[in-house]
Amino acid sequence: MTAPTLAGTNGHAPTAQSSNTRGSPNSPGSRGTRDARERIAGLVDPGSFVEFGSEATHRATAFGMERRRPPGDAVVTGCARIGERPVAVFAQDPTSLGGSLGETHAAKIERMAGWAIRARTPLVGLLDSGGARIQEGVSALDGYGRIFRANVALSGRIPQLSVVLGACAGGAVYSPALTDIVIMARDRASMFLTGPKVVKAVTHEDVTADELGGADVHSRRSGVAHLVADDAPHALELARRVLSYLPGSCWEPAPRREPAEPGPLPRIPENQRHAYDVRTVIRGLADAGDFLELHERFARNLVVGFARIEGGPVGFVANQPQALAGVLDINSAEKGARFVRLCDAFGIPLVALVDTPGFLPGTGQETGGVIRKGAKLLYAFAEASVPRVTVVLRKAFGGAYIVMNSKSLGADAVVAWPNSQLAVMGAQGAVDVIYRRELEAEPGRRDELTSHYEAEAMAPGIAAARLSVDEVIEPEDTRRFLAETLRGLAGADVPRFRHDNLPQ
Ligand code: HXC
Repeated sequence: MTAPTLAGTNGHAPTAQSSNTRGSPNSPGSRGTRDARERIAGLVDPGSFVEFGSEATHRATAFGMERRRPPGDAVVTGCARIGERPVAVFAQDPTSLGGSLGETHAAKIERMAGWAIRARTPLVGLLDSGGARIQEGVSALDGYGRIFRANVALSGRIPQLSVVLGACAGGAVYSPALTDIVIMARDRASMFLTGPKVVKAVTHEDVTADELGGADVHSRRSGVAHLVADDAPHALELARRVLSYLPGSCWEPAPRREPAEPGPLPRIPENQRHAYDVRTVIRGLADAGDFLELHERFARNLVVGFARIEGGPVGFVANQPQALAGVLDINSAEKGARFVRLCDAFGIPLVALVDTPGFLPGTGQETGGVIRKGAKLLYAFAEASVPRVTVVLRKAFGGAYIVMNSKSLGADAVVAWPNSQLAVMGAQGAVDVIYRRELEAEPGRRDELTSHYEAEAMAPGIAAARLSVDEVIEPEDTRRFLAETLRGLAGADVPRFRHDNLPQ
């Protein structure tokens, strides 16, 4: 399949106009564009950046804008390399017209999107902008409309990363929301549709930028940010790290590294009620114990992120017994669905680690739409065409058993550890339902009936006998099992463009 062009947009490749040395020291915004170029320099391989459009300016004349025409129009754009692989990049300049986006600024970003799809390279945006440039009115809004359209046209084809380095408003946050990964620099970044001043004017609410949309809000509560960095250099380092797991486009295989030994595999508690940190298991299966967790603080009951097995990138999706006992709920389903679709879009195999008592019951979840939203994770796994392997670590109950990449949803291989339990529900609940009469007559039989249910309905050998589990394996054999099955599936017939990465 050939790469689509951005129909109806200025999707043609830009002309290289200069190296990254332009910008008179006396020109408006020169300090800022230098900062924006410094930010790009901190992101890309040394000496690899080539700039486009450094002399481009806006055409607005209203509100005295003819006297404020910074060269470059508050954004630096160009192509470069990261880890020796090509990328398209733009960096907004907050000290020049507030980094706001007008017609020309938008056209420059849109051209880099066109470059990215043509060159089949990731598009990385360094965002620091007050959103649509108020003085340019509807032309600024249309500029955002075209950028959103480009973001959607690239979705699932080209990895798109947004690194938020300052206060971003309006379109400057909606565009990141359409991209694959959002990284926020904790010290300066905030994201909101309308800033504190507008909030104060409209609702009379006094709120700081941090309270409204700081890194804490978006990493813990809204789920907008996938990664939080301490500052700009750290954010740029995280962007490079994310890209090391992703191919240049959906038409390319994911990049491989030299294989490395995993970290130590912990023993997990046998008692089903005892918590542990599933990330220690992931590190015990991953090359060099390396795991890049996304959405670490949001919906902590499900852990998602990138690692490598025998040098090849994989996406881990794991229930976290340490948070809400590892239940699935609305937020974790949406978090998991987006990650599964991201991995599937870019050909990254999936490994599910299952230890969940099921979906969280209750009115909060039901009225919040757990039927509709929980279905997203189910849909994402069922749809995924990349190699997918599941390891049942301890318990897999009810709908959550099915959702977590079960054999019936199309997993290529499912294994279970010997102490695991797979069933419609936990033993206590099941005994209350199916032995109601017996328990009414003889309440003292509860332990006996529970043991009977555990042996007759929950043991992994029963699931293996029904082919719902391919093998029951010892924990220490898991890494080899994953490595060999993923190697065995390397030639699987996976469509090259699969689907977009719709925001969840
Ligand atoms: C024009 C803008 C601007 C904008 C900021 N500036 N935002 N100029 N258009 N959208 C200018 C300011 O006038 C100021 O210029 C300079 O940038 C710095 O702004 P400050 O307010 O002094 O900075 P700070 O206190 O850091 O606050 C940053 C901010 C705030 C929180 C982003 O500027 C703000 O709330 N701006 C408006 C945000 C907004 O509502 N944008 C429109 C969204 S609508 P001087 O000359 O004084 O240095 C949108 C449409 C798409 O984007 C929406 C799609 C869904």
